[in-house]
Amino acid sequence: MKKGLIGIELGSKNLRIYSKEKDQILRLKNVIALTEDSETAAVGNEAFSMYEKEPHQIQIITPMVHGVIGDYTNMRRLLAQILRRYLRKLKKYEFYMAVPSDITGVERRAFYDLMLESFRSVKEVRLCPKPMADAVGLGIDVGAPCGNMVINMGADTTEISVISLGGIVRSRLVKQGGSQIDQWMISKLKRNYNIEIGMKSAERLKLLYARREEEG
Ligand SMILES: Nc1ncnc2c1ncn2[C@@H]1O[C@H](COP(=O)(O)OP(=O)(O)O)[C@@H](O)[C@H]1O
Ligand SMILES: [Mg+2]
Repeated sequence: MKKGLIGIELGSKNLRIYSKEKDQILRLKNVIALTEDSETAAVGNEAFSMYEKEPHQIQIITPMVHGVIGDYTNMRRLLAQILRRYLRKLKKYEFYMAVPSDITGVERRAFYDLMLESFRSVKEVRLCPKPMADAVGLGIDVGAPCGNMVINMGADTTEISVISLGGIVRSRLVKQGGSQIDQWMISKLKRNYNIEIGMKSAERLKLLYARREEEG
């Protein structure tokens, strides 16, 4: 049986799944919505569309916190549903998972177990440090004997790393990211103009502004 190759990144905000076979990246919100009885109401983008609009019977959960698994049970439920939709049941898959570089042994184990428990036909699970995956993805010659600084800004973390000779020389995880900018915008609008907006609108505004700056 031919095996498939899948790359996974579990971000605090976005979940990305790469399929080598399809040469496609599936990007969706890493969010799950639960009912009062703790049943799954929705996952991914559908769950995110309920965020800031939900009645009290529905709870929206982001299972990843600062790059590590904060809520194991719900992360497993979310990932299992997405993989079941996206992958073929009978095929064996090899998974490469990008994980933060400075995690504890227990956190590593949790990533590993999560993968094994989320999908039936797992042939193999390999964990890859995120800065290394970023550098390779950017086309940097990671094996060269010189320092390459990689900065990955996510929603609630920023990881700054230096890569040389195929390894990570230094890495620091700062527990602040893009959501902090959204939060600053919310506070500023409230304080200066008495306008109240939510996190979703703040992010949309920020991205619009960033795009305008890029386009000049
Ligand atoms: N062009 C951009 N300019 C500024 N911030 C951006 C831009 N594109 C995305 N972001 C921000 O990056 C963060 C998402 O990064 P991502 O790596 O997808 O999240 P995570 O890995 O934490 O799930 C969000 O806060 C988003 O608003
Ligand atoms: Mg990220």
